[in-house]
Amino acid sequence: MSEQRVTLTDEGSGKSVELPVISGTEGEPTLSIKAVPSTLGYFTYDPGFTATASCTSTITFIDGEKGILRYRGYPIEQLAGKSTFLEVAYLLLFGELPTTDEFDGFQSDITHHTMVHEKLNTFISGFHYDAHPMAMMAGVVGSLAAFYHDKMDMSDPEHRVQAAKRMIAKMPTIAAACYRHHMGRPVAYPNNELTYTENFLDMMFSVPAEKYIVDPVAAKAIDLLYILHADHEQNASTSTVRLVGSTGANPYACVSAGISALWGPAHGGANEKVLIMLDEIGDLSRVGKYIDKAKDKDDPFRLMGFGHRVYKNYDPRASIIRKAAHEVLENLGTSDPMMDLAMELERIALEDEYFVSKKLYPNVDFYSGIIYKALGIPVSMFTVMFAIARTVGWVSQWLEQEQTPTPIGRPRQVYAGPTEREYVPIESR
Ligand code: CMC
Repeated sequence: MSEQRVTLTDEGSGKSVELPVISGTEGEPTLSIKAVPSTLGYFTYDPGFTATASCTSTITFIDGEKGILRYRGYPIEQLAGKSTFLEVAYLLLFGELPTTDEFDGFQSDITHHTMVHEKLNTFISGFHYDAHPMAMMAGVVGSLAAFYHDKMDMSDPEHRVQAAKRMIAKMPTIAAACYRHHMGRPVAYPNNELTYTENFLDMMFSVPAEKYIVDPVAAKAIDLLYILHADHEQNASTSTVRLVGSTGANPYACVSAGISALWGPAHGGANEKVLIMLDEIGDLSRVGKYIDKAKDKDDPFRLMGFGHRVYKNYDPRASIIRKAAHEVLENLGTSDPMMDLAMELERIALEDEYFVSKKLYPNVDFYSGIIYKALGIPVSMFTVMFAIARTVGWVSQWLEQEQTPTPIGRPRQVYAGPTEREYVPIESR
């Protein structure tokens, strides 16, 4: 904490308070407002947390004005170009890139936790076949507490790391099992000879009747998308994980809550909605009509995959994904009219005064669905793909929070309901 102070004076009462300024290693200086209620008698009001930092973190840095994203100091462009998802997972969890030995040990730990209790498959089979996979994921991940909770001592850092690894390892297995349940396919077990992403694709698409060979183009593309989705500081789902974690709840319950928060269309659910939107637009000639709808204040329609609370510049993940989408389509030898639609939508929006003045740019969800679709991932699984990757961020943030004594998250409110009144018996109302 720096020595800098900001004095806040209430002209009505003449009282003032000196508020310390917290400076991180980068980013805007932040005013600590803790002393305001006790000295001036006011709470502070910030719906949607547009101006409030909820914690100190050393994991991810974003400069929304400049379009910068770094994990533990490493630019996302470098990680996307040179690293792998599991190496990034290690970095996010433990703060440093691993040595060869550290990485081998970590990879082996993750690989040996990929199986799930057989009864979990029975649990999954209880869902209706057309249940949304995100609904299944939230339920199944929450239920992990019923399988592992007793053995876990939350005060033991090794137990906590174990839970974090277990969750990263099991997410693809659970996700694929949910998909297979929907498809009516038998459960596929993990294959420890495959990499993290190969294993996921194998569990998704292999069938007992035929040999399935994972396409390296698909495995590489998904690994890249997982890197880009792994963490994004205090977004809605991560803040949910931290809030639930602040109560002392077990990590499976925290991640299950994170999955539910991610599902919303304003957050990770947008990747599914982008494809549904592009499908509805259907043709280049209709792009203008949808741009007009997005600008119309009386129309609830929003351009999905556009805009971001923090980025007021091109989302750096979107530029990487757009390039990757072109490469994937080219490597698979296919084309997708939706790619042309998406590019036209982007071109028009980036020239339009409405989007320019509000600094609305394509976000991470705009092009990712085009890659998933090209790889045969069904649209309803898009947000599950996001959840698999973001689990690394959720558990890293949860571990960080657990290492620092944190008060229970408990916001206040401005009460605007009725003041005290007398109860009236039903016959007299
Ligand atoms: N289309 C049309 N107008 C928009 C859009 C959009 N996609 N996004 C924001 N606006 C307008 C909004 O109507 C508002 O206008 P005005 O100032 O005239 O009332 C202004 O831009 C600011 O919007 P906001 O909703 O106050 O901004 P926010 O920071 O609260 O919301 C957002 C950010 C991501 C929720 C929003 O941009 C949005 O709904 N985008 C579409 C959904 C989406 O793509 N979500 C994925 C986000 S990135 C990945 C992730 O978080 O998982």
